[in-house]
Amino acid sequence: MKKYLILFFLVALTVVLSNCGSSRKAAATVPKLNYETNLQATILSNCSPCHIPAKGGNKKPYDNYTNVKTDIDEIVRRIEMNPGEKGFMPFRKTTRLSDSTIAIFKQWRTDGLLEK
Ligand code: HEC
Repeated sequence: MKKYLILFFLVALTVVLSNCGSSRKAAATVPKLNYETNLQATILSNCSPCHIPAKGGNKKPYDNYTNVKTDIDEIVRRIEMNPGEKGFMPFRKTTRLSDSTIAIFKQWRTDGLLEK
């Protein structure tokens, strides 16, 4: 009887330890995206000059965290359209942003729209 009890505790301990290890690893290897590191430069190069006042743009400014955060759903909707569709961004370009660039906008939203 005692033998089974010890065996039971060993199995339980193994389950607890292995779960604990894997969740810690996942958190450490996938850092959350943030505006300053992951989006600012991409927006500056792809949405310029129109949305960047410093470059002479007169459309809604996306050179700042607050506007990008507020409009993220509309931004994602428009960059996922097909070129030529009404509302497609970047305006008048004949190709969409790359899939990996679009994925950054979406992942940033999933990660909670962090500034830095
Ligand atoms: C060549 C100029 C140009 C570029 C580059 C451009 N846009 Fe635009 N954008 C416009 C114009 C013009 C409008 C207004 C017309 C409209 O709403 O479709 C607009 C409107 C928008 C709106 C709606 C804003 C509002 O007032 O609700 C969003 C969102 C947007 N753009 C996102 C982007 C994003 C993101 C990029 C870069 C990936 C980008 N745009 C690149 C010209 C541009």
